[in-house]
Parts: sequence; structure tokens; C-alpha cells
Amino acid sequence: METVCMQIVLVLLLLIVHRLDGSLSPALQDLNQPQQLPVDLEPEFEGTIQNISSPTGREAILTCSVKNLGRYKVGWLRASDQTVLALQGRVVTHNSRISVVHEDFRTWRLRIRQLRESDRGCYMCQINASPMKKQIGCIDVQGECPFPCDCVLF
Ligand SMILES: *[C@@H]1O[C@H](CO)[C@@H](O)[C@H](O)[C@H]1NC(C)=O
Repeated sequence: METVCMQIVLVLLLLIVHRLDGSLSPALQDLNQPQQLPVDLEPEFEGTIQNISSPTGREAILTCSVKNLGRYKVGWLRASDQTVLALQGRVVTHNSRISVVHEDFRTWRLRIRQLRESDRGCYMCQINASPMKKQIGCIDVQGECPFPCDCVLF
């Protein structure tokens, strides 16, 4: 009776060890791999872009923060039609109300001055990694036009 009991315990132990082994092996494989160099780190967004709401005529700023950018680039696009507005710190759209502020290596702010209702919508901060990474922030433009304000002309 005692030996049967021992055998059952042994089988159970073996099963447990087998399972543990199965779940541990990927971690062990990771340990065996050579240390990754910093250049191999994948770029990542830090936090999320905050949506904003602003009246026409004012300015709106969307902030995109990225870490481990490495050799990749950050772009700002208009989400509705995928128009590229800026690449890295350079504005590529012919819209003098749009600018990009690049700060402390990792932050790209899209700034739209003299907001118009047509600016309402979502904007995409994109990293040209593979696969491409993106984050979206939206601007709600309220119709109230403070005086003086040139927004009614367009
Ligand atoms: C911003 O607004 C969009 C669209 O309404 C929504 O999908 C997204 O979750 C919002 N982001 C935050 C941070 O609230």
C-alpha cells in the first residue's frame, strides 16, 4: 500500500516538474541570448496624446512623446486624409498656422495657431518603425469666435 502511494506521489511530482519546466524554458532561452544592444530597442510611445477642446482663434497643442526612437522618425499626420503635416521637427504642409516644437529629444508638439473649425478632427503621431506605430489625439474646435478673430473669413 505504501509503495503504491509513493508511486502516485512520484508521478504527481514528475508531472509538476514537467509543467514547471515547460513554463520556465522560454525564460531560460531568453537568458541564453546575448544581451541586446540599445540600438535594438523598439521605439515606444510614452503616455497617450491628450485630446483637447479649444475655441476658434486660439491655439491647440498636441504632445507626442517617444522613447528609444533610435534611427526612426516621428511624423504628424492629419488622421482623416493621412496628410503628412510634419516630419521630425520640420513642417511639410503649406499651412503657416502649423508648427512643430521638438523638445528634450523625445517630445514632438504639433501646434496649430488661430484654430478654425476645419482644424477639428484627429491627428496622428506616427513612428516609421516596422510595423508602423501610431497614436491619435483629437482637437475639438468650438464654434465661438472671439473678437477680433480672422476665422470667419474662411
Ligand atoms: C481621444 O478621442 C478619440 C476619439 O474620440 C478617442 O478614440 C480617444 O480614446 C481619446 N483619447 C483620450 C486620451 O481620451
